[in-house]
Amino acid sequence: MANVIIVGAQWGDEGKGKVVDLLSEQADFIVRFQGGNNAGHTLVVNGKKHIFHLVPSGILHQDKKCMIGNGVVLDPGVLIEEMDRLEEGGLRVTPDNLVISLYTHVIMPYHRALDLARENRKGRTAIGTTGRGIGPCYEDKAGRGGIRVHDLLDSAVFSEKLARNLEEKNFILRNFFKQEVLDPAKILDEYLAYGERLRPFAGNVSRQLQEADAQGRNILFEGAQGTHLDIDHGTYPYVTSSNTVAGSACCGAGIGPTHIDSVLGVVKAYTTRVGGGPFPSELFDETGELIRKVGGEFGATTGRPRRCGWLDMVVINSSVRLNGLCGLVITKLDVLTGIPTLKIGVSYNCRGDRIDHVPAALDAVEACEPVFEEFPGWDEDLGKVRTWVDLPQNAKKYLNAIEQIAGVPVQIISIGPSRNATIILRNPFAGGGRQEQPG
Ligand code: GDP
Ligand code: IMO
Ligand code: MG
Repeated sequence: MANVIIVGAQWGDEGKGKVVDLLSEQADFIVRFQGGNNAGHTLVVNGKKHIFHLVPSGILHQDKKCMIGNGVVLDPGVLIEEMDRLEEGGLRVTPDNLVISLYTHVIMPYHRALDLARENRKGRTAIGTTGRGIGPCYEDKAGRGGIRVHDLLDSAVFSEKLARNLEEKNFILRNFFKQEVLDPAKILDEYLAYGERLRPFAGNVSRQLQEADAQGRNILFEGAQGTHLDIDHGTYPYVTSSNTVAGSACCGAGIGPTHIDSVLGVVKAYTTRVGGGPFPSELFDETGELIRKVGGEFGATTGRPRRCGWLDMVVINSSVRLNGLCGLVITKLDVLTGIPTLKIGVSYNCRGDRIDHVPAALDAVEACEPVFEEFPGWDEDLGKVRTWVDLPQNAKKYLNAIEQIAGVPVQIISIGPSRNATIILRNPFAGGGRQEQPG
C-alpha cells in the first residue's frame, strides 16, 4: 500500500497527465487537490487523445475512484461538459467513480469576467492567465466570500450568497473596468441546474480518503500546474493562484502529511512555459523552434505556443527541496533526439554572482543567466526503447547527469505520449529499491 503525490517540477505541462494515467493502474483513488480548469492534462491511450481540465486523469481506468478535492476551484459548466464528452465516448462517469468535495469552491461567471478584465487592463504586464477565473475564485476563497459546492445544493443559501457577491462584482465590473454587468437571474438558474446535476457526486472527500487509507488502498494525488507556478514559491507575480507544491495535496484533499509515502516530480527533458514571466534558459533560436515543433508544444487549454528552452537544474533542484521529491519522472526525452549538443543549466550568473537558487525579486530572476554544461546528443530513435539498457549511451549520460545534479533518482522515463512508451525503473506503488538497474 502507498499514497503517492505527483507534481510538476517546472512551469506546468511536464506530462503529469500521462504519468498519472500510467500509475492509475496500481492506484485505487486518484485525487485532484488544487488548481482548476487552467490545467490541461493530455493522455494518449490506444491512439486516442483525451484532454482533461478537471476530471482526474485516472478516469480512463473505469474501476478506480476519481476525486476532486476541496483545494480545487471548480467551474461546474466545464466539469459537466467534460463528463458529457466522456459519456459520449462510451466511458462511464457516475457517483461510483467520481466524487466532488462539498468544500470545493465554485468558479462563477464574475470570476471569469474579472480575470479577463484585469488581464486586459494590465496590457504589457499581463500575467497571461488562462482566463478561466482561477485567481478571482481563490481571492474570494481567501476573502471568505466564496461559494462552495454545498452552497449550490441549497437554493436559498445560494441565491443569497450570489446576490451579495454580484452586488460587489457588478459594481467593480461596471465602474472600474467599464464592462457589462452580469444578470443575477440568469446565473441563478444556470448554477442551480448545475447543482442538481452534480448533487449525486458531492461528498466528503477527506472522510472517504481516511477510510480508503485505513483499508490499505493506494491513493494517487494528481498535481496541476508546476512548482514554479506556486503562489508562494514560484516566480511571483507570474504564477497561478494556488499552492502547487506537494504539501498542497494534504490541505487540498484533507489528508495528513503522515499518510504520504512518496512524492514524484515530473520533469520535462527540456523546459517550457506558457504565459508571461521570467524563464532564464529560454531559447529564441531555431533549436527552440525545433523543440516546439517536435514536442508539439502548444497549450492544451488555450492553444498558445509554449515558450521553450534548455533543461534548467536550478529550477529542478528548487523543486526537489520544495516538494521533498523522492524521485523524478523524466518525460519527452524522445523530443531531444537529433539535437547534436544538449545543454543543461547548472547554476545562474546573477549580476556577476554565481547562485544556485531562483531569487525572490522579479528583477533579480530576470537578470539571471544560466551557466550551462554541454552534453553530446543522440540520433537513435527512442520510439521502441522499453528498457534502460536499450537507451543510447548519450541518453543515459544525460539522465545520469540529471540524477546526479538533483541528488534524487530517476524512477520513470517517458519516451512518447502513449502508455507503453515508458521505462519504469522503480514503481512508486511497489516497495523496495530500484526494480531495474541502470547500466
Ligand atoms: P500536463 O499538463 O503536465 O499533463 O502536460 P500536457 O498534457 O499539458 O503536455 C504534455 C504533452 O506531451 C501532451 O501532449 C502529452 O501527450 C505529451 N507527452 C507526454 N509524455 C511524452 C513523451 O514522453 N514524449 C512525447 N513526445 N510526448 C509526450
Ligand atoms: P497544467 O496542469 C502551464 C499558467 C498560465 C499563466 C499562469 C496563471 O496543464 O500543467 P491562471 O489561469 O492559473 O491564473 O494563469 O499560470 N498556467 C499554466 N501553465 N500548465 C498549466 O497547467 C497551467 N495552469 C496555469 O499560462 O502563465
Ligand atoms: Mg498541461
